Amino acid sequence: MTNGPSLNASNASNASSNSTFARVPYHVGIIMDGNGRWAQARGLPRLMGHRAGVNNIRRVLEASVAFGVKALTIYAFSTENWARPQAEVSGLMKLVGESIRRQLSELHANGVQIRHSGRLAGIEPGLQQQIRDALELTKNNQRIILNVAFNYGGRAEVIDAVRHIMQDGVKPEEVSEEVFARYLYTGGLPDPDLIIRTGGEYRLSNFLIWQAAYAEYYATPTFWPDFDKEELRRALQDFADRDRRFGKVKIA
Ligand code: FPP
Repeated sequence: MTNGPSLNASNASNASSNSTFARVPYHVGIIMDGNGRWAQARGLPRLMGHRAGVNNIRRVLEASVAFGVKALTIYAFSTENWARPQAEVSGLMKLVGESIRRQLSELHANGVQIRHSGRLAGIEPGLQQQIRDALELTKNNQRIILNVAFNYGGRAEVIDAVRHIMQDGVKPEEVSEEVFARYLYTGGLPDPDLIIRTGGEYRLSNFLIWQAAYAEYYATPTFWPDFDKEELRRALQDFADRDRRFGKVKIA
């Protein structure tokens, strides 16, 4: 990964100081869809689409910092993705390992806090260790949170939370929405304000199903490898123009 300008500390911006939008979402979730179709449209193997998709994460991360987004959750691999052809699954696993090896030190130097949402169990032990090391190294960074949903499923997350609540002996009357949310993989992270899906589909695909209860949803036909800073700007402008009521009515 090259040292992109907008991840440099001197260009730091945050929601309050950003003058581009009236409102900037604190936390954005992205369903990075369309890698396969991007590759097929170019006569390339699907894995080349995933490679282009990985490269695009850096570009969107930089743009997110520039626009003042403070947390980005990216859907990298779902619990359902194991059912894909074995070569594609192992190719994706290799890409993740390679990305951590190549990019971790620079992400760390640029203040990116890496988090993981998902089950570590089931992932190859070497890659599990790489992920643990990345979380440990970057845990105190404050510039932007990059939360990687990897071996992630929203329903699995709810099940895991219930299991932990029971293991901790929490009493039924003590279980509130706040307590429950703390037991999710995203515990401590505010709910996403905006969910973006690239690749033209209109579904959540088991992504942040609890946390997205009041998120604004934005879909674009653009395939993930082509989703650039201008596309992100459009999504954020769309968000800024919306009227979020959280189930209430607006008092004029
Ligand atoms: C959806 O495209 C994309 C995925 C299932 C994987 C996305 C994963 C990455 C970009 C790699 C993540 C890596 C790191 C380091 C976090 P698709 O294959 O479903 O595309 P299609 O709908 O066109 O077939």
